[in-house]
Amino acid sequence: MRNFIVGILFTLIVLIVGGWWCVKQGYMNFAADQKPSFVEEKVAMTAVDASMDRRAGDAKNPVAPTEENIAAGAKLYLDHCAGCHGVPSNPDSTFPRSFNPPVPEFFKDAPDMSDSQNFYAIQHGIRWSGMPAWNKILSDAEIWQIAAFLDNVEKLPPAAQGVFEPDAGAAPAPPPKPMTMPMSH
Ligand code: HEC
Repeated sequence: MRNFIVGILFTLIVLIVGGWWCVKQGYMNFAADQKPSFVEEKVAMTAVDASMDRRAGDAKNPVAPTEENIAAGAKLYLDHCAGCHGVPSNPDSTFPRSFNPPVPEFFKDAPDMSDSQNFYAIQHGIRWSGMPAWNKILSDAEIWQIAAFLDNVEKLPPAAQGVFEPDAGAAPAPPPKPMTMPMSH
């Protein structure tokens, strides 16, 4: 029995020290264009989901989903989030897929989390992914407006749709002039 326990402890120590040695030697590849290992993917995904479940709570959105609020959320989204999470005219681009984990593309797959979970994710961000914490940049009321917008991405009222196509009907801007470099001799 004693030898058995010593054997288990020895195996554990070899695994921990061996694992740490591999990490220290740079065998873990952090490149974003490499597929994460099965363990990394499983552990990290489960941990992020569970952490969100534990902390997000179930507060109701204090901002009513009126056309005005959804349009205000859309404007904030366009200014701060669309570069990563996409716009209706280009719902499936290469950029969000160049992150690992990839950025969820909200106009391709509408967010399916509750408002309080979206609020929590936006407020605090998600470490070790590209998702920033917005609580120093946006007020709580603004984040709730964005949550109301996210809840309605599949059925945006006209005022919110207009945010993404402000120039519809306007004449196209003239093409930029080619840049000329001054010759230096
Ligand atoms: C620099 C790119 C980037 C920007 C800018 C960004 N996000 Fe994200 N966001 C991400 C990434 C990457 C994830 C995925 C994290 C993960 O899978 O763990 C994410 C995840 C999320 C999630 C959780 C979705 C889910 O299904 O788990 C929400 C909600 C979200 N972002 C909303 C926003 C909002 C709202 C803004 C603007 C205020 C924003 N993001 C700005 C990169 C970004």
